[in-house]
Amino acid sequence: MKVFINKVIPAVGYQMLEEAGVDYTVWKERPILDRGQAIQFCKGHDAFISAGQAGLDADFFHQCRHLKVVALHSVGFDGVDIAAATEQGIPVGNTPNVLNKATAETALLLMLTVARRALYHHKKIKKGNWGISQPTEGLGIDLAGKTLGIVGLGRIGTELAAMCTQSWNMKILYHNRNTNPEAEQAFGAKKVSLDTLLAQSDVVSVHTALTDETKGMFGMEQFKKMKPTALFVNTSRGAVHKEDELIAALQKGILWGAGLDVTNPEPMSPENPLLDMDNAVIFPHIGSATQETREAMTRCAVENTLAGLKGEKLPYPVNP
Ligand code: DGY
Repeated sequence: MKVFINKVIPAVGYQMLEEAGVDYTVWKERPILDRGQAIQFCKGHDAFISAGQAGLDADFFHQCRHLKVVALHSVGFDGVDIAAATEQGIPVGNTPNVLNKATAETALLLMLTVARRALYHHKKIKKGNWGISQPTEGLGIDLAGKTLGIVGLGRIGTELAAMCTQSWNMKILYHNRNTNPEAEQAFGAKKVSLDTLLAQSDVVSVHTALTDETKGMFGMEQFKKMKPTALFVNTSRGAVHKEDELIAALQKGILWGAGLDVTNPEPMSPENPLLDMDNAVIFPHIGSATQETREAMTRCAVENTLAGLKGEKLPYPVNP
């Protein structure tokens, strides 16, 4: 049995495969593989551990229908044609739960960085202008006691709600298809319409999966419904917001600030105006990028792989 791994993963993953007596090939080079190259590698292997491989579409699963399992090294599986994998009888697994805290921390980091204008101050020092010379200069905004609107109160949104209620006594509004009674009980979270959430929140943080329904969900129309003092934070998928309209909203002062861990497209162009704005903070999709979390994700991916190779049910399955 041989596993193909398309990017370098934490060492624990190789150890687990070796202990199980499974051979593997790792693509360690840059540039990362394109879809055609990934297919060629997969053809010589029984399983595929895929860290963000683009193009896992119906044709991929048809050409690679010999695969016993595709183990995604991510929780998200937008861009992966799960129906096509299922049709070919290929189990697909992901890495749920283990990245909830790290991703919620990333949302919090964006909130704090934007709220306290951290990059503005850092850049000022770099330009030789240490400190605030006037008491009215370079001021941020408090988060404590403010209202956080969570769009998609699932596992990651719930972690963020816990952090923000425990540490800052923030009020939680949420917009979800389903009611979340646990969060209502634990954090006093209140389910509201999207319009109410936009109108009443001081921070809007997005945690939805990317689906046909959520694609382009945040554009000028929604930004205009937010308070001019509000922050927009997205750690889910870049295609959930319309980037041009976000840029315009920030430039026109319709929004106070934005923090993004996800952009559309990724990677973001170094010419993107958001990178020069004092009220925007951009991270390169690092939501799960801590040593502990990446190791935990690797464990999930390898557990899925080993189960798939044995023809057993995956511990973290995605196919229905
Ligand atoms: C995930 O696991 O889906 C993260 O967004 C990394 O892609």
